[in-house]
Amino acid sequence: LLPNRLERLEINTQKELYDAIYKLRVRGAPAIGVAAAYGIYLAAREIKSETYEAFLEQFRLAKDYINSARLTAINLSWALTRMERCVLQNSGKTPAEITALMLKEANAIRDEDEVVCRKIGEYGLSLLKEGDGVLTHCNPGALATVRYGTATAPFYLGQERGYNLRIYANETRPLLQGARLTAYELHVAGMDVTLQCDNMASVVMEEGLVQAVFVGCDRVAANGDTANKIGTNTMAILAKYYGIPFYVFAPMSSIDMNTPCGKSIKIEQRPASEVTDMWYQIPMAPNGIKVFNPAFDISYKSLITAIITENGIVRPPYADSLVKLSLDFNVR
Ligand code: MRU
Repeated sequence: LLPNRLERLEINTQKELYDAIYKLRVRGAPAIGVAAAYGIYLAAREIKSETYEAFLEQFRLAKDYINSARLTAINLSWALTRMERCVLQNSGKTPAEITALMLKEANAIRDEDEVVCRKIGEYGLSLLKEGDGVLTHCNPGALATVRYGTATAPFYLGQERGYNLRIYANETRPLLQGARLTAYELHVAGMDVTLQCDNMASVVMEEGLVQAVFVGCDRVAANGDTANKIGTNTMAILAKYYGIPFYVFAPMSSIDMNTPCGKSIKIEQRPASEVTDMWYQIPMAPNGIKVFNPAFDISYKSLITAIITENGIVRPPYADSLVKLSLDFNVR
């Protein structure tokens, strides 16, 4: 409904939660993770089993169901696995007691996300100076997290500290997260944000209007290749051409050491109507036309200047620096 209408959606069942993720009512990797944690708690409330074993079996069915709502953002399975750990660690308790502990764990995941984003913001802001222009793509913003966003967190912190940053938000075809969400939230927050169509990005780079590209991510593979909203890789390639640093903002929950490289990341394909019809009064493509609509692309590690996490800034070679980071901070 954004940017024209803001409505709060109350979700009470795992099915409603699944639909909300599937239909992008909640989207953006960290927000999907937080929502999934509450979703599996809602699922646990629906389980009638008396014994731990029967409860665990039902829990795992619900986990697989919620996990299937979207493919690419690893935060979804990260949060569900963390909730599963909570269940496994409390095998001596009753299902009712475990369910109550699951709510606590979901609250912790929510609260940690805000802290994580603020830390990411501090590291990100250290890469900028007053008056800089920054290009961003999709919505790695407050609307994709609990607060601050990841790639937008430096903008919020910069605003608190009078940095006078100039943000260029790519519209982000086909679902327009840049126009409908990023431009909306930064504009409402009173920042200097300029909206442009995705295919205008080379012009702002050519004209020296941006000093950096800040993007979020849905998954970082062990070698540093990164999946993010379709069009991100185009920005990475352009930035390389113009000699502009290209930074990926990734909470540790988006780093997937079990995925070796970008080619192993599953990319969600979405309905053709998003391209041909969705935002138009009448279809803007011939009836029955073949449509290619991948929701994400991979920016290869060689295009990424640095990855910004809550635990610091990671630089190439990523195969080494991500292993060190994951060992230091105990990433799976
Ligand atoms: O399809 P979406 O809107 O869920 O895609 C969102 C993105 O690609 C974001 O850039 C990413 O999830 C990072 S959000 C901090």
